[in-house]
Amino acid sequence: MSEIEWSQERFCHTGDSPEMLRKKIPKNLRVKLFLTDPPYNIGHNYGEVDDRRSKKEYMKLITKVLRESYKIADDSANFFMIHYPKDIAEMWPILTEKTGWKFHQWITWTYPSNIGMSKKSWTTASRAIIWLQKSENGEPIFHPKRIVRPYQNPWDKRVGELIKSGKKGCSLYDWWKINLVKNVNLEKSGYSNQIPEILLKRIIRSTTDVGDLVVDPFSGTYSTMKAALSIGRLGWGCDLNPDTEKYWPDKNYVNTNYIEKEFDFDIPLSFDHVRAGISENQYREIMINGIGVLERKGSDSASKKLKEELLRMEWIGEHDFV
Ligand SMILES: C[S@@+](CC[C@H](N)C(=O)[O-])C[C@H]1O[C@@H](n2cnc3c(N)ncnc32)[C@H](O)[C@@H]1O
Repeated sequence: MSEIEWSQERFCHTGDSPEMLRKKIPKNLRVKLFLTDPPYNIGHNYGEVDDRRSKKEYMKLITKVLRESYKIADDSANFFMIHYPKDIAEMWPILTEKTGWKFHQWITWTYPSNIGMSKKSWTTASRAIIWLQKSENGEPIFHPKRIVRPYQNPWDKRVGELIKSGKKGCSLYDWWKINLVKNVNLEKSGYSNQIPEILLKRIIRSTTDVGDLVVDPFSGTYSTMKAALSIGRLGWGCDLNPDTEKYWPDKNYVNTNYIEKEFDFDIPLSFDHVRAGISENQYREIMINGIGVLERKGSDSASKKLKEELLRMEWIGEHDFV
């Protein structure tokens, strides 16, 4: 953990982000990571804060935030902005030419969604995560081995060797499927557009080290700050909406014992017969036997559903089990 002690007074602020970035970052700290989803400007409820600015005003705000961030960023710093792809396209020159930041990568975040179904086009269920870097030359700080995805074929001889040598998976793709924060989740606050903790920690862990300063200039529920503090980083945030002060984290979020490690899976893995080390035929047999097991237990409806699924897979025929 950093030598600097975290406190609400120094790291949580209410006010306009460009001004807060200019005046309120603790002296002698350089920012290593900016991670934010700005207001989407589509009429979300952010208390008294207007989320329907004119396009000109909106672009001005984003430009100012990027410029102020650039000034206080460490030379090795990264900026991740989460937004809808269409809006990112509109602000492309601001992101990549006019504010000092350089483009590094476009990541697509997809999530299943059952709201906002459109009859005119396919349902929007993705956002862009734009990764910018400060340094012109040189690679930005990146630890791709900290969070990985499991090998698809662990029984391949070469992959087996990798696993034996201590590697548990390979680096992530540039598209991430991570569920939105649902109403039933413990982390859900009720505020618009809360970003899932898994996504925030994925970026923070992969691009900073313990003790580094992570900044979110549009903090909302202070989810970025909470994620950063809980994994040993320093978190700084601000929001124009005073109602968000109720989300300010307290010292209990600070984790001074966190130690970074490699080869973590951050999303619970669903059952995979390859990883489990059984053949597809063995898996099929287990599933078919499962119909009888469920029936004997009296779980008729579950047994019926399993039968329907196996029929759909063409793993059983219409006349099996009649
Ligand atoms: C999309 S939300 C951020 C949600 C946040 N990522 C979370 O996980 O809770 C955008 C936030 O920007 C805030 N905001 C809008 N204009 C602002 C400004 N000029 N300065 C600071 N915050 C602003 C809004 O009040 C809102 O809370």
